[in-house]
Amino acid sequence: MENIATKVKITKASSSKLSSVDFSNLTFGKVFTDHMMVCDYKDGSWQTPEIVPYGPLQMYPSAKVFHYGQAVFEGMKAYKDDEDKVWLFRPEQNFERINKSSKRLAIPEFPKGHFFNGLEELLKLDKEWIQKGFGNSMYLRPFVIATEPGVSASTSSEYKFMILCSPAQSYYSGEVRVKVSEDYSRAADGGVGFAKAAGNYGAQFFPTDIANSEGYQQIIWTDANTHEYLEEAGTMNLFFRIGDKLVTAPISDRILDGVTRKSIIDLAKDANIDVEIRRIKVAELIEAANAGELKEIFGSGTATVVTPILGFGYKGEKYELPKIEDSYAKSFKDQLLKIQYNQAEDKFGWRYEV
Ligand code: COI
Repeated sequence: MENIATKVKITKASSSKLSSVDFSNLTFGKVFTDHMMVCDYKDGSWQTPEIVPYGPLQMYPSAKVFHYGQAVFEGMKAYKDDEDKVWLFRPEQNFERINKSSKRLAIPEFPKGHFFNGLEELLKLDKEWIQKGFGNSMYLRPFVIATEPGVSASTSSEYKFMILCSPAQSYYSGEVRVKVSEDYSRAADGGVGFAKAAGNYGAQFFPTDIANSEGYQQIIWTDANTHEYLEEAGTMNLFFRIGDKLVTAPISDRILDGVTRKSIIDLAKDANIDVEIRRIKVAELIEAANAGELKEIFGSGTATVVTPILGFGYKGEKYELPKIEDSYAKSFKDQLLKIQYNQAEDKFGWRYEV
């Protein structure tokens, strides 16, 4: 990775919360480290990135983010190997994607030097918070919000780019079953589905709460026009193993271009697995399930890594997947973790040392 010099101003916390954290019992996204990165955009440019103690922000209640949801975010993880080295996984992908998301939301692009130098300084400062061992990581949440005060419905002239660090274990603590959406939609053609726009996630909470009350952990979204094609789940891209073929929906302006998704596709092709990147109908899934051909469904994402889906529901019917010996999901998860934790050769050049 090219090194782009950017000054980062550092103000250290006067004390650390580290000793009060129970690392054996972490709920995803609840605990934050001692520091955060903040960088303001004003007068037409991004200012000097700063690392400051983690704490509340002071903002006007009229700030545009509160009224119009002009906000985008990313999800990344830092991993610690047995020798205490800290690694990121394909961070340039997250950098590029946050700017792609920002562009769609009319937010000014964030400079690469600010992103990488700010992130690296932050990780160096809070390195002790990263626990070793498969499954332990530090979830990183870069995000941008529109901070200009004023409720006129127009682009903000001021923003805050921030990065928060949260020690993490698994995202889901139990089994995952999903409901295939029959009516609600996540994204539409020409919309913001491909972007990690805050509102894409907020708008899923209501239908997901309904699915939760019916015993499902997530929804598989179908296309907004016909509700016939499977797209992605609330926090994950999706893979379907039909026979020994691996099928995943193509990226479009409705589907997030997941970093874990594209890495799995590369791993699968490298293992000579037949990968089909094509639209897949709910009817095909049900036909394959009834014929005993549907061997696995799994989700992929930074937070969820690779998550096997044990069953799905559609129009009131419930379908359970068979238990499988040679699981693709397990194999991809093992391979990814070994690369991420510096325990395997990195033939694709995905690891980035901090
Ligand atoms: C991630 O996997 O990092 C995500 O952004 C999903 C998130 C909504 C938890």
